[in-house]
Amino acid sequence: MSLPSKIYVAGHRGMVGSAIVRQLLAQGHPADRIVTRTHAELDLTNQAAVRAFFATERPGQVYLAAAKVGGIHANNTYPAEFIYSNLMVEANVIDAAFRNGVQKLLFLGSSCIYPKLAEQPMREDALLTGTLEPTNEPYAVAKIAGLKLCESYNRQYGNSHGVDYRSVMPTNLYGPGDNYHPENSHVIPALIRRFHEAKVNNSSTVTIWGTGMSKREFLYVDDMAAASVYVMNLGKAIYDQQTRPMLSHINVGYGRDITIGELAEIIARVTGYAGDITFDPSKPDGSPRKLMDSSRLNALGWQAQMGLDAGLEEAYKDFLNNHMAQP
Ligand SMILES: NC(=O)c1ccc[n+]([C@@H]2O[C@H](COP(=O)([O-])OP(=O)(O)OC[C@H]3O[C@@H](n4cnc5c(N)ncnc54)[C@H](OP(=O)(O)O)[C@@H]3O)[C@@H](O)[C@H]2O)c1
Repeated sequence: MSLPSKIYVAGHRGMVGSAIVRQLLAQGHPADRIVTRTHAELDLTNQAAVRAFFATERPGQVYLAAAKVGGIHANNTYPAEFIYSNLMVEANVIDAAFRNGVQKLLFLGSSCIYPKLAEQPMREDALLTGTLEPTNEPYAVAKIAGLKLCESYNRQYGNSHGVDYRSVMPTNLYGPGDNYHPENSHVIPALIRRFHEAKVNNSSTVTIWGTGMSKREFLYVDDMAAASVYVMNLGKAIYDQQTRPMLSHINVGYGRDITIGELAEIIARVTGYAGDITFDPSKPDGSPRKLMDSSRLNALGWQAQMGLDAGLEEAYKDFLNNHMAQP
């Protein structure tokens, strides 16, 4: 009997990579057939080290969930590091995978690849139709390069070597393993921390930046991991029905968006905060709406499973159990 494919999950300590490992284990993939390396063990910006790793381990499949990620402040302060690291990680991993016979690879991108003023909901073919959001443009350009690397290897080596590298573009994610840093976290972990602290300190009011009217979409990270494994394992003919050689990425969204005000109400309830919620309209709202069009993924047979209320309860449990020690 042949052994199950050896799967390399790059970035397995991150929020998405750890969820992909959980998903593979939950689907019965043997733990000893999942290959991982920490950043300290293998710096993916080091081409020689990455090539040596692939030559030794020879995985059959690769999930590329390693990336240098950060919020607006980090992206604005370290643009060189964001573009350089992400380009190097992608180029090294994708090329070393090809050189070592990997036929199946899934690249994780982000919704920031789409133009700042893309029509809502954002469809895959909005890619490269307009100017990017300037604050994270270097990061977004690197992510676009990642998906174009996958496409180019498919186009050049698909027939000759059976290369089938796919890309998924997640919406905003939340759930276990999120970053709850007080100054450098996304909206859900930031609100969980603030409402939790307001409850503990008996504060009577929590004030949220902006009008609370802008709308965002959120997907539970274990759903993202399930979608990743699903897309990786789809038959090629089925995947090809929803993609084109030069438009090969697939959006992964929850399918509905919610106002920040509604989100705050749910998080207040989940955390047990009973005080007032006020908004500060003098602060920026950001884009009025950011929603993925996930109809291609839905047509491929996948739909998010975790509702927002239940997902936020799980996220709050993870915060209480694993993140209270963070500053
Ligand atoms: N979180 C979201 O809301 C979201 C939304 C859309 C898309 N995504 C995408 O999903 C992917 C993963 O995001 P995430 O939220 O899981 O990020 P994360 O929690 O920061 O995880 C990224 C992982 O990559 C590792 N890594 C970074 N640079 C590396 C290098 N040079 N060598 C080896 N390992 C390296 C990091 O290790 P260290 O921490 O040790 O550096 C970390 O474990 C990214 O491509 C991101 O764009 C995330």
